[in-house]
Amino acid sequence: MPIEINKNKISPIRDSQVLRVIERMNDDRRHPDRSAFDGPLRHDAEAFVDFGFSIHPDQGDLIYLLCRAMGAIRVVDFATSVGMSAIYFAAAMRDNGGGHVIGSELVQAKVDVARKNLADAGLAEYADIRQGDARKTLGDLGGPVDFALIDGWPLPEGPSLARQVIDIVAPQLRVGGYVLNDNAEPDFLEYIRDPANGFISITIPIKRGTELALKVV
Ligand SMILES: C[S@@+](CC[C@H](N)C(=O)[O-])C[C@H]1O[C@@H](n2cnc3c(N)ncnc32)[C@H](O)[C@@H]1O
Repeated sequence: MPIEINKNKISPIRDSQVLRVIERMNDDRRHPDRSAFDGPLRHDAEAFVDFGFSIHPDQGDLIYLLCRAMGAIRVVDFATSVGMSAIYFAAAMRDNGGGHVIGSELVQAKVDVARKNLADAGLAEYADIRQGDARKTLGDLGGPVDFALIDGWPLPEGPSLARQVIDIVAPQLRVGGYVLNDNAEPDFLEYIRDPANGFISITIPIKRGTELALKVV
C-alpha cells in the first residue's frame, strides 16, 4: 500500500543537497502489485530489487532529531535497501561533527543504489554499507552503538529477521541507546516490550505504528 507523503512538511534537515535526494527518492517510490506478495517469490529479497520499501519521512525526521539530540556517532541501519534511512542517519552523523552509519543490505544492486544516493547527498564518507546477510554483517559493529533501526524483511517461517537481528545488535547497543522498528513484527515487539530484556518502549502513531525503545540497563 503506497504511503502518504506531505510534501509541505518541513524537515529538521536543513541541507538542500540532502533534501533534494530525499525528495527525488520519494518521487521515485514504486509499489509492487498486491499479487507479488501471494506468489512463490514473496520472501525472495532479490525478486523485489526494484522496490525500496523505504521509511516514511516522519520516521526519517525522528531518526535525524534523536541522533542529533544524543550526539550519536555509531548507528545501525537494518536494512538499508536503496538508502533512505541511511541518508537520515548519515546526515545526523555529519551534522554531529562525525560518525558512521553501518548499513546492512542483502541485495547487491540495492547496495549500489544506496551508495549512489548517499554520494549524491554528499554523505558517502559517513556510511559503511555492508552487503550480505545482516545476521553475519552486523556481528561486529566495532564499539558501542547509539541507535539502531530494525526495518526488516519477512521470512517464510521461524523467528522474524527483526527478532534475530535485535538479538545480535542489543548487546552492542549502549545503555541510553535507541531502537526504532518499522514493521511491528509480533515476536520483535514481544522481546522489546519485555522489561527483562532491558528496554522501555512506546508505540508512536507513524504509519501502522512505529515502536521506539530505549535501552535502560
Ligand atoms: C523494508 S526494506 C529497508 C528500507 C530502508 N530502511 C529504507 O528506508 O530505505 C528491507 C530490506 O531488507 C533487505 N533484506 C532482506 N533480507 C535481508 C538480510 N538477511 N540481511 C540484510 N538485508 C536483508 C531487503 O532486500 C530490503 O531491501
